[in-house]
Amino acid sequence: MLPLADISTNIGSLPLKNPTMLASGIMDEDAGSMKRIIKCGAGAIVTKSIGLQPREGYPNPTLIELEYGILNAMGLPNPGIDEFGEEILQLKKSKTPIIGSIYGANAKEFIELGQKMEDYGVSAIELNLSCPHAKRYGLEVGSDPKLIQIITSSVKVNVKIPVFVKLSPNATNISEIAKAAESGNADAIVAINSVKAMKIDLDLKRPILSNKIGGYSGRAIKPIGVRCVYEIAEHVDIPIIGVGGILSGEDAIEYMMAGASAIQIGAGVYYRELDIFKKIKKEIEQWMDKHSYKKISDIVGVAHL
Ligand SMILES: Cc1cc2nc3c(=O)[nH]c(=O)nc-3n(C[C@H](O)[C@H](O)[C@H](O)COP(=O)(O)O)c2cc1C
Repeated sequence: MLPLADISTNIGSLPLKNPTMLASGIMDEDAGSMKRIIKCGAGAIVTKSIGLQPREGYPNPTLIELEYGILNAMGLPNPGIDEFGEEILQLKKSKTPIIGSIYGANAKEFIELGQKMEDYGVSAIELNLSCPHAKRYGLEVGSDPKLIQIITSSVKVNVKIPVFVKLSPNATNISEIAKAAESGNADAIVAINSVKAMKIDLDLKRPILSNKIGGYSGRAIKPIGVRCVYEIAEHVDIPIIGVGGILSGEDAIEYMMAGASAIQIGAGVYYRELDIFKKIKKEIEQWMDKHSYKKISDIVGVAHL
């Protein structure tokens, strides 16, 4: 039987044919792998976070799999915006929106990166203000509401495409930060980036990651992400994109009930492989049919009523 549910959604002015998006940092470093994910049915692709200059990232080990998730401190490795632009240009014909994720040390860097991303043809920009392990570029920027507002509004006035702001669960008060992004005219909030964490090797008696501290992703962080989305939804009126530990259609529905209009999948790509997008879409449709929901917007935020 054909599904009755319509799973298209909108993030402000950006329409998506389905609510599943690839999260930044997973299989999105070159045009070839992004094309593969598009073929697998993702509603949108977020690129790896890109800075002005090339960055090598941290030495190994940079990623370990733990019982309930993945711990990583890659150190934002990327080729820099000028070289990465060539990859984006190869996706110009894609009907699936490409969202350019950028990081910088100050508003000036974010503006330059945002303008370059727009010139390369992305559909929206995601400001990564939340990397848990890159000192100058991450939490030092992303836990100060004033800075968030300044950076967001500076990028907004310099580009025409929508600007999303990705927040960290490591901030003390995530709704305050979300409100600052909204007052800087952000078009949407993305929550959450990975959770600051550490793993110690008992034999070596040392932290395993070369950077010692990393960001925890995957199954274990879903309740943290759902709580953050719920709290943000209580305080802002702009759309929210939920991310963190989404491995199934029911996980996605839970985020939607908390207030998310779309969701992103990161670690899930490792666990359920590339067909995770098709599977989650089908599971969302089946759940909606079973519970007589006809469109995504009818689910968004119902947990608040
Ligand atoms: C290996 C790896 C690299 C990541 N790189 C980035 C990145 O460059 N920029 C960013 O905003 N988030 C990055 N993230 C965070 C994810 O986009 C996502 O917010 C987080 O992993 C939680 O979602 P998940 O549990 O579905 O993975 C990365 C995550 C992983 C596992």
